[in-house]
Amino acid sequence: MTAITRITGTLAEARPLRDAALHELVRVGERGLLGEIIRFTGDTATLQVFEDTTGLAVGAPVVATGASLTAELGPGLLGAVLDGVGRPLARLADASGDFVAPGATAPTLDPERRWSFTPRVSAGVQVAGGDVLGVVTEHGAFDHHVLVPPDVAGTLASIEAGAFTTADRIASLADGTPLRLAQRWPIRTPRPTAERLPADRPLVTGQRVFDLLFPLAEGGTIAVPGGFGTGKTIVEHALAKYASADVVVFVACGERGNEMADVLADFARLVDPRNGRPLMERTVLVVNTSNMPVVAREASVYLGITIAEYFRDMGYRVAVMVDSLSRWAEALRDIAARLQEIPGEEGYPTSMASRLGALYERAGRARVLGAPERTGAVSLVCAVSPPGGDFSEPVTQAALRVAGGLWALDAQLARARQFPAVDWATSYSLYADTLAPALAGETGIAWRALRTRVLGLLQRDAELREIASLLGAEEMEDRDRLVLAIAGLVREHVLGQNAFDANDAYSPLAKTSRMAALAIAALDAADGALVAGRELDALPLAGFRRAFGELRRAPTGELAARTADLEQMIGGLR
Ligand SMILES: Nc1ncnc2c1ncn2[C@@H]1O[C@H](COP(=O)(O)OP(=O)(O)OP(=O)(O)O)[C@@H](O)[C@H]1O
Ligand SMILES: [Mg+2]
Repeated sequence: MTAITRITGTLAEARPLRDAALHELVRVGERGLLGEIIRFTGDTATLQVFEDTTGLAVGAPVVATGASLTAELGPGLLGAVLDGVGRPLARLADASGDFVAPGATAPTLDPERRWSFTPRVSAGVQVAGGDVLGVVTEHGAFDHHVLVPPDVAGTLASIEAGAFTTADRIASLADGTPLRLAQRWPIRTPRPTAERLPADRPLVTGQRVFDLLFPLAEGGTIAVPGGFGTGKTIVEHALAKYASADVVVFVACGERGNEMADVLADFARLVDPRNGRPLMERTVLVVNTSNMPVVAREASVYLGITIAEYFRDMGYRVAVMVDSLSRWAEALRDIAARLQEIPGEEGYPTSMASRLGALYERAGRARVLGAPERTGAVSLVCAVSPPGGDFSEPVTQAALRVAGGLWALDAQLARARQFPAVDWATSYSLYADTLAPALAGETGIAWRALRTRVLGLLQRDAELREIASLLGAEEMEDRDRLVLAIAGLVREHVLGQNAFDANDAYSPLAKTSRMAALAIAALDAADGALVAGRELDALPLAGFRRAFGELRRAPTGELAARTADLEQMIGGLR
């Protein structure tokens, strides 16, 4: 019998274990705790147990399951709240009280539930990985495409319409292979695509500072580092709520439990601004709070990205938010330390950077497998929590090496309550140039030029404020004082957004580009007036500030009506 020979925390050694594979799942002890083989030394296997190991002792039995950690993918994922290894929190709690009982097994998808399946192909055709077999409608609105699993191909012998559970056979291949509504995929293996495509389409975030200055692409990747309390979680939540994605996967990795309770309550209430439907209907939450075992945190990120790839394969735009990647890296560090691996920088395993790179590689826009031809994307936005807000630490640095953009959150800006506290001097987006034509097309505004003007204004503002702090603002020329005034309202009202004000929290691209263009127009008109001999004090600077303050809180539908005032003020200066 295979038994535990050593145990430290959630790591255990078991012997003898021969006919098992690396990353195979095991059941440990009388309670059958879920674990995974993470190392072999001869016939001794090192296991990481995904659950609380209190009470587990040397001699406890270990059974290899023959399966690796897989995600169950199918109808019912949308709206689910899963733990790091894919167990639904709601149904687990039903089965075992408030907390997930150790060893509790619950399939990700409800095995009882029946889904109405409508075929889109008929018997007799050749099918291969990724082909759309048919559709299940979820939440009355979402087309969940039922796909041939990536590694399956053959002649379709039969296919049926009807109400099926995820385990029922909905179709068969000529060789007898059954096809079902759900499929499984090992979470540590990327799902294949047909062709990678350039990230040249914007994923609109609804946050002006990002959409205007540091845009995100469909299939793009962003790192969001920020010290304690700088607004990382709020940024991730804003994206989950407002980004122009079809599906959102939110991985809460090692964050506070009460914060997750807030998220759940929040998401349950929230309405999708684009279609008026509950936000949860297009969201999957993977929740591994800091009071769950460290090793489950390590898995949760892979589970999240696998679910995202599955929806990408249907042809959807998926946005994955991870909060925070640092907790994932800490889980790696923890595991490595207990495996007594030789530590790299600051104790992180030397493999941390390459594993992080491999994770980011799973994002992207792609032509997906199968017929009909379609494209999908997985975008990845990861919060990073550098200790002391020091971006030179290994996790931030590793993320920056692979991410396509940096949204740097700054403690000083957060203290000044400039939210989102994005430091525009250090932040960047490698997508800005590629996305410029598409953003210009969507807004009807010369987006690249507008962005350059706003960045230039912020840069000039920083220089002038430095001078002002040395000489005093009184000594400055009127034209410079005008720059300070307009830049001030741009920082406060154009780039600032209050996450707690329903009208301000989400800014459609039309509002973002309009506000920025009006600010630049105000600057140019006022500057022209100064050059023509008008006094600074005679300019309607206070009026501008008030108008922008009102505009940011204007409901989307009233945008045109609310800009009239501002346009009149600007017109009056010409
Ligand atoms: N857009 C915003 N609008 C208004 N307030 C904000 C905004 N962003 C952040 N804040 C304020 O900053 C606080 C901290 O934000 P948040 O919890 O997102 O920070 P964090 O970086 O995730 O912190 P931690 O390091 O603890 O995880 C919020 O509770 C809120 O008061
Ligand atoms: Mg946070």
